[in-house]
Amino acid sequence: MQVVTVKNLTKCYGTFTAVDAISFDIAKGECFGFLGPNGAGKTTVMSVIHCFMPPTSGDVRVFDIAVREDPGSIKAKLGVMPQEDNLDPDLSVIENLVVYARYFDIRKKTATRLAGELLSFVELTDKANVNIRDLSGGMKRRLLLARALINTPELLILDEPTVGLDPHSRRSVWEKLQWLKRQGTTFILTTHYMEEAEKICDRVAIMDAGKIITIDTPGSLMAAHDGSLEDVYLKLTGRSLED
Ligand SMILES: Nc1ncnc2c1ncn2[C@@H]1O[C@H](COP(=O)(O)OP(=O)(O)OP(=O)(O)O)[C@@H](O)[C@H]1O
Ligand SMILES: [Mg+2]
Repeated sequence: MQVVTVKNLTKCYGTFTAVDAISFDIAKGECFGFLGPNGAGKTTVMSVIHCFMPPTSGDVRVFDIAVREDPGSIKAKLGVMPQEDNLDPDLSVIENLVVYARYFDIRKKTATRLAGELLSFVELTDKANVNIRDLSGGMKRRLLLARALINTPELLILDEPTVGLDPHSRRSVWEKLQWLKRQGTTFILTTHYMEEAEKICDRVAIMDAGKIITIDTPGSLMAAHDGSLEDVYLKLTGRSLED
């Protein structure tokens, strides 16, 4: 079963085409990664998938629902970890989770229990009552991951989930994502860490200037180009920049 189906998606900002007629599918339980240089269009693609903004043209279906038709039903089954921190600075760590749970009509008692479990999951239990302003950058990333999980999503959309994390926390997040994957969660993520993509993605799409240059498993790409995933990335995105 396909969780995401994208056909000929184009997204323009005014006259600028940020995403240019791309197509791909993501299967249930798959971890699908978008790789590509700054400005390639990765965040834009994810924003259309999580119904933050409509496509300019093309057909985008999530859980077999068209994003134009019923974004509410799609959003109910999604978890989103944005590239930019959008935590509420006026609330404590645990309040950020409990208040967010309201969007999913989760009762306060249940939300408080879930929030406690998720803080333990991302190793922030001792920060539960701290103000957001007093968290480090890496702690905020982990809290954003916890928040994305509050509705037990079937599809997790993670925009650079491990940026700014120390090596220990990064590994710990990888382990958590792998645990969620074993529970059947489907993932879309972006990363600039090729080692991360190689470790956790079943398939990657390498994007540049709004187009997908290639989609394949990290293993096949490395075998075809006889190098590491970073070599493949540099070769493919470097060549297209020269073009
Ligand atoms: N709201 C917006 N209005 C106008 N242009 C935008 C907007 N958001 C993104 N863009 C442009 O669209 C292009 C793709 O941006 P996007 O954020 O999708 O890239 P990205 O691949 O996520 O990059 P990064 O690796 O830096 O996060 C860029 O040229 C960017 O300047
Ligand atoms: Mg981005």
